[in-house]
Amino acid sequence: MKIIKANDYDMLSKTLASEISVYLDKEDSLVCLPSGDTPVGAYNILVDNFKSHSHDIKCKFVGLDEWVGMDKNTNGSCQEYMDRFLFSPLNISLGNIKEFNAKSKDLNDELNVMDKFIKENNGLDLVVLGIGMNGHLGLNEPGTSFDSYSHVMNLDNKTIQVAQKYFENQTTLSQGITIGLKHFLESKKLILVVSGEKKKDIVKALIEGDVSENLPASISKLHHNCILIADESALSSVEDKYI
Ligand code: PGA
Repeated sequence: MKIIKANDYDMLSKTLASEISVYLDKEDSLVCLPSGDTPVGAYNILVDNFKSHSHDIKCKFVGLDEWVGMDKNTNGSCQEYMDRFLFSPLNISLGNIKEFNAKSKDLNDELNVMDKFIKENNGLDLVVLGIGMNGHLGLNEPGTSFDSYSHVMNLDNKTIQVAQKYFENQTTLSQGITIGLKHFLESKKLILVVSGEKKKDIVKALIEGDVSENLPASISKLHHNCILIADESALSSVEDKYI
């Protein structure tokens, strides 16, 4: 795993935006991007670039995850977030976005359809992920098998507590539907992005610790082409020899 240390959040956002922009014009690329606070700065840069030199975005997108029972019409859901910050401002056509229907009565079917879609498109070319306060990737919580493709996950208490920041009112969350860790491992390029002092302990555990299913983010150390983009405060507890 290559580490790119950014001086601050602005620099982190510029670095991430330039990594993502390489894929946007490629018709045959399949890209999976996260919701969450961390990538917002990069998405704003991509939207500003798009507005100043309007050009068609040609790649296809896979929706990373969703809270079970929600969809794009639920304020604060993952899909509403992606639509608000990226897909709508970039004029992405619905036909180029493949997302789970987390309201479906048959979630197993949703999993099969997504796995088949990714396979038929020759896998994910680029996956970008934030890291949860508990080390989750997407909604793959601690303890998830590294062998899992798309699946439904019972949410960790930490995730339920942290996720309240996305909703106006206290919201009951119990399960998520998510692209799996094996998909991330099989992607052609994996980028983890992490910012801020509140993530310094989990970043230290990731960089200095072992690869373990108890820390889903550690699967990135098994990936052949992975970058961690982190700002100084997220790296502030990591010993210099690792950076
Ligand atoms: P954040 O979320 O970017 O809002 O910190 C990351 C995550 O929980 O995956």
